Amino acid sequence: MALRKIVLQGDEILTKVCRPVSNFDERLHELLDDMKETLLQANGVGLAAPQVGILRRAVVVMNDEEEILELINPEIIDAEGEQTGPEGCLSIPGKTGMVTRPEFVRVRAQDRDGNWFEAEGYDLTARCFCHELEHLDGHLYTEHIDHFLSDEELLAYYKEQGYDVEEIEKEDGGEA
Ligand code: NI
Repeated sequence: MALRKIVLQGDEILTKVCRPVSNFDERLHELLDDMKETLLQANGVGLAAPQVGILRRAVVVMNDEEEILELINPEIIDAEGEQTGPEGCLSIPGKTGMVTRPEFVRVRAQDRDGNWFEAEGYDLTARCFCHELEHLDGHLYTEHIDHFLSDEELLAYYKEQGYDVEEIEKEDGGEA
């Protein structure tokens, strides 16, 4: 396994539509292993293949149980409700913006061996599914916002939500 370099906003790779994965081979497995290692090292919650420079439809998402799901050729098959909250991206480090997403999302995807399965998630996991799948079509969350949140706006949001703000300040995760 190896860490891969995360592509930053401004690189046109992040604006391209990715091609489906058709070979479930050793090269794909190596990509997925590297993406997982890169995600953990970056303390993020999700990573899409184009963020490491690979224009293929593959993402990794950390779910509520802190398992990293590998989703190949994923598609959203069900979405319900609505949530509005701060969202970040490993390709836009240190920034957040308020984005409205479904509260619940179910996806259909292939695993690293090509078997189809379904996965679902609420809250942050649902947000992350939407965020990562958009990367595969060349879209970033910044298309949904009118400004990046200031530190004061972010803290005000967390206080309003009843979070322990001192704990939040110590964390730097949550980017996808
Ligand atoms: Ni992202």
